[in-house]
Amino acid sequence: MKDHLIIFDTTLRDGEQSPGASMTRDEKIRIAKALERLKVDVIEAGFPAASVGDFEAVLAVANIIKDSTVCGLARALDKDIDQAGAALKGAARSRIHTFIATSPIHMQMKLHMQPEQVIEYAVKAVKRARQFTDDVEFSPEDAGRSEEDFLCRILEAVIDAGATTLNIPDTVGYSVPQQFGATIANLIQRIPNSDKAIFSVHCHNDLGLAVANSLAAVMNGARQVECTINGLGERAGNASLEEVVMSVRTRHDVFACQTRVDSREILTCSKLVSSITGFPVQPNKAIVGANAFAHEAGIHQDGVLKSRETYEIMRAEDVGWSANRMVLGKHSGRNAFKSRMTELGVEFQSEEDLNEAFSRFKQLADKKHEIFDEDLQALISEVGFEA
Ligand code: KIV
Ligand code: ZN
Repeated sequence: MKDHLIIFDTTLRDGEQSPGASMTRDEKIRIAKALERLKVDVIEAGFPAASVGDFEAVLAVANIIKDSTVCGLARALDKDIDQAGAALKGAARSRIHTFIATSPIHMQMKLHMQPEQVIEYAVKAVKRARQFTDDVEFSPEDAGRSEEDFLCRILEAVIDAGATTLNIPDTVGYSVPQQFGATIANLIQRIPNSDKAIFSVHCHNDLGLAVANSLAAVMNGARQVECTINGLGERAGNASLEEVVMSVRTRHDVFACQTRVDSREILTCSKLVSSITGFPVQPNKAIVGANAFAHEAGIHQDGVLKSRETYEIMRAEDVGWSANRMVLGKHSGRNAFKSRMTELGVEFQSEEDLNEAFSRFKQLADKKHEIFDEDLQALISEVGFEA
């Protein structure tokens, strides 16, 4: 379906590669269940050949999750693929994701392999993976720095070998949106059998461009995005799931495709991943940061009180917040102050009373970052207004 954008969550695999974010089997199960409720299409549960613990975690997730495909990562090596196949045996739907590097620097310095050999390994790996499942994904690692002609050759060969998803990773976050989007369009156009596979992208955030690059790829024909909750992942992380999903949803006019994600589960997932990994979410993080739906400036608060659309392009409730938030601080205006006081049960008898209370509030706000309800209660009893 051309208008369906597959959301492939790799919080449990690439996300876990964030230094300090490793997870136990039970923690992975908890996150996998939350991702299933979020309705992601694919959960990459781990890298079974990496450790016995990860093998067991993937095995457990595969046996529990019913509504999302469960995926295991494998290098293009027989033993990795066999381990992934064994870990995924109990899955209702399974995918093996195999990869090998294709950039000149990786092939020469890391693999010590000639390009022809790399193609042979890739083809062999895909064929072996197909013995376990008919859902096989192939990634040319470091595609962002690989030669386009070589990518065309290897991708054509793996499609013939049975790969059903071709994932183009910007492994080191080197790409920029216009160029990355053009690469995706070129690959789809140049590879003769490209219609037999879904094109996917996996962008890292080293230049802060992971979401922008992923979205540029979607605009150029990619129909799977690999992403993580809170943008967790190796080094500066991966594309953030919540930003990709809400961009596609909010700007449907631009992307012309949709996900099946239940966006109301986003905040719960974000909080769960943050509490399990111990990685806090920055307050100004899009969608899930504490300030993402908070308004402090008087002009903004006044606008939002009149009509939320004046300063909100999404509804806080649609991503799991109970409401948007008016922060009372030194930039707040009379309207927001009065409205909060009304919520606290204070009705001013005259404009003068309101003016006096507002002026005291402003004096206090100059001394504090944020004014809480307790501060307002104290102000009320100080001045002697009726609550
Ligand atoms: O960043 C990367 O290249 C990866 C691959 C294994 C897809 O994580
Ligand atoms: Zn990665």
